[in-house]
Amino acid sequence: MSRQRAEKILVTGGTGFIGSHTVVELINDGYEVVIIDDLSNSKIEVLDRIEKITGVRPTFYQLNLCDIDILKSCFKKEENISAIIHFAASKAVGESVENPLLYYRNNLLSLMNLLEMMKAFETSSMVFSSSCTVYGQPDQLPVDESTPFQEAESPYGNTKQICEEILRDTAKAHEQLCAIALRYFNPVGAHESALIGELPNGTPNNLVPFITQTAAGIRPKLSIFGSDYNTPDGTAIRDYIHAVDLAKAHVIALRRMIEQKNKSNFEFFNIGTGNGFSVLETVKKFEEVNGVKVNYELVDRREGDIEQIFADTTLANEELGWKAEKGLAEMMATAWKWQTEGAV
Ligand code: WQD
Repeated sequence: MSRQRAEKILVTGGTGFIGSHTVVELINDGYEVVIIDDLSNSKIEVLDRIEKITGVRPTFYQLNLCDIDILKSCFKKEENISAIIHFAASKAVGESVENPLLYYRNNLLSLMNLLEMMKAFETSSMVFSSSCTVYGQPDQLPVDESTPFQEAESPYGNTKQICEEILRDTAKAHEQLCAIALRYFNPVGAHESALIGELPNGTPNNLVPFITQTAAGIRPKLSIFGSDYNTPDGTAIRDYIHAVDLAKAHVIALRRMIEQKNKSNFEFFNIGTGNGFSVLETVKKFEEVNGVKVNYELVDRREGDIEQIFADTTLANEELGWKAEKGLAEMMATAWKWQTEGAV
C-alpha cells in the first residue's frame, strides 16, 4: 500500500526555543519538516539534537526571510509546502526600544514576504507566533481574546499587534489563505530529554534562564525587578507555560486549518495555563523542586514591565481542544535539567 505522502510543513525559526520543541512534536506526529532559520538567535547544533530525539533530521536552510529572492528560491525547491509555522522574529523587549527600526523591518517584512510566497505557491495555512504582550496591562484578569489591544509597551509588542492586523487583512482579501495567531504567555521549561531548551544570547532578558544561570553559578545574583506591585507578595505575576505544551498547541492549530473544511480566515487564541505566579513564587518553586538556592535581591521595577497578566484559555480549550498539562513544578524541573545537562 503506498504510504501517504507526509504533509510538508515549513517552520521558520525552527532551531529556536519554541521552534525546536514544535519541530519535535511535528515529526512525532508524522509531518515532514523544512526549517528556515538565520541562526542569529540559535545554534546549528539544535538540528543534531532534534535528530537525536526524533531519529529524523529536518531539511534546513540558513537564510534571512527579509530577502525575498532567496526565499523564493527556497519555495521553488521545496514544492508542496502545506503550511507554515512562523516563529522567526526579533523578540527582546529592551532591544526593541533601543533599535525600533530593526524590529519593524525584521518582524514585519519577514511576515509580508512569507505571505507573498504563500499566495504565489498556493500554501494555504499559517500558524503565527504572537504574544500576550499585545494586551499590555489588561484592566480585567484573566484576560480573554475579546480584550482590545492597548498601546504596546514596546516596539516589539507593537510588531506583534501589527502582524496580527496584517494577517487579518490578508486572510480576508484572499479566501484560500487562512491563519491562526497563538498569543503565548510566558514560555519556560524544556523537553524531558534536556537536549533542547532556551538558549539566550549573552545575558538573559527572561526570568527563568536567569534563575537557572544564577543557581548554576554562572550569574552571581538574580535581580527581582519590583517588590512594590499591587500583588500578594509585591512581585509581578505572569502565566508561565511549558514549552512542550506550547509546541503541542501549534500542531493542533495547524491540523485544524489543514483538515478544516469551512476555513475561517483568521483566528487567535490565548495559549497559557490560566494560572498566575509571582516572581518570588516562581523562584521558591524552583528552589523547592530542585533543592538548590537562588541568590536574589529585590530591586527597582524594570521599565516597560506590567504588573500582572494571566490567561483565560477557554477559547483554546473549547475551540482547539487544547489544554496545558504541565504545572510550574515540571517547568522548573525541566529548566534546571536543561541548564545542568543539556545547554549547548
Ligand atoms: C517575567 C517577570 C520581570 C528577569 C517577555 C515578552 C514576551 C515574551 C517573554 C518573547 C517580569 C521579572 C525578569 C529578571 C526579573 N517574549 N524578571 N528579573 O517580560 O513577562 O515577557 O518575555 O517570547 O512577549 O514580553 O518575561 O521573563 O522577561 O519577565 O525579576 O532578571 O520576571 O520583571 O515581572 P516578560 P520576563
